[in-house]
Amino acid sequence: MGEGLTDTPQGVGHGSGHVPVLLKEAIDFLAVRRGGTYIDATVGLGGHSYEIAKRLGAPGHLIGLDKDPAALDIARANLSSSGKEDWPSVTLLHGSFAGIEERLGSGLADGMLADLGVSSLQFGDAARGFSFQAEGALDMRMNPQAELTAEQVVNHFDERKLADVIYEFGEERRSRRIARAIVRSRPIRTTKHLSDVISAASRSMKSERIHPATRTFQAIRIFVNRELEDLEALLESAPQVLRPGGRLVIISFHSLEDRRVKDALREGERSGLCRVLTKKPVTASAAEVDRNPRSRSAKLRAAEKT
Ligand SMILES: C[S@@+](CC[C@H](N)C(=O)[O-])C[C@H]1O[C@@H](n2cnc3c(N)ncnc32)[C@H](O)[C@@H]1O
Repeated sequence: MGEGLTDTPQGVGHGSGHVPVLLKEAIDFLAVRRGGTYIDATVGLGGHSYEIAKRLGAPGHLIGLDKDPAALDIARANLSSSGKEDWPSVTLLHGSFAGIEERLGSGLADGMLADLGVSSLQFGDAARGFSFQAEGALDMRMNPQAELTAEQVVNHFDERKLADVIYEFGEERRSRRIARAIVRSRPIRTTKHLSDVISAASRSMKSERIHPATRTFQAIRIFVNRELEDLEALLESAPQVLRPGGRLVIISFHSLEDRRVKDALREGERSGLCRVLTKKPVTASAAEVDRNPRSRSAKLRAAEKT
């Protein structure tokens, strides 16, 4: 942990399973200005937000969004001003960052952070169905109010559509074989059953480094949560939401996201909207990966609105 990142809010860090990724790097790139207005578009348990809030101080304003009301409940406790001195006002909002401009208006923020993907809270709760390593319902919704669940994708999509989802959002070469096996095994009700079906269909590739269900679970999760559409909407609205000089910091966890972030920032620079601050993505140090294996695939990119 870097200088000045000493204490940890409740539910974040040791014991909770959730360790904020690239924390010092994200805070450094945001260059938090005391008294400013900052948005944490993926507040999660409030790990990054806590560090932003400390630097904002009492005159500042922190706005946090999350699709997951369970995460917001924990963030609310971690970011409350109770027992803290010189603490900013904190507004927590339930919903997707895709609608951020309509919700918050334009020209408001001195900085915005998005730490994409799933939190350890979500992965760790077997009942929510994110993990193929635990027995749970086929849900995978970050927002429990959303309509589409993994169960509907797995049991009701036709074979071709299912294969397309697995290929497009999981970059899974065996998408057709896996989709066929899923359709033949219906109904599939649990994560363990789905994972077993995928493993059996992928049996000839046992030498792989990752679990055979990794890519298919990723694909279904991205599809169910509209993760790439939401990211594209965020990238489009960021220049409007930020003030001139405002910083955008995005941490992504797979190539489908990072490619979109890289292209949007380059395009923004080409059209004079922003200056890219990271010529190459910033990745976690060996020490961080050791402490927190989730950081292994993290890529941070940042830009400043001109
Ligand atoms: C990796 S976690 C963030 C962890 C947080 N930075 C912390 O330190 O506690 C990602 C969070 O983003 C939320 N999320 C993902 N996509 C979202 C979206 N489109 N809009 C709002 N929240 C989203 C998830 O529900 C999850 O809580």
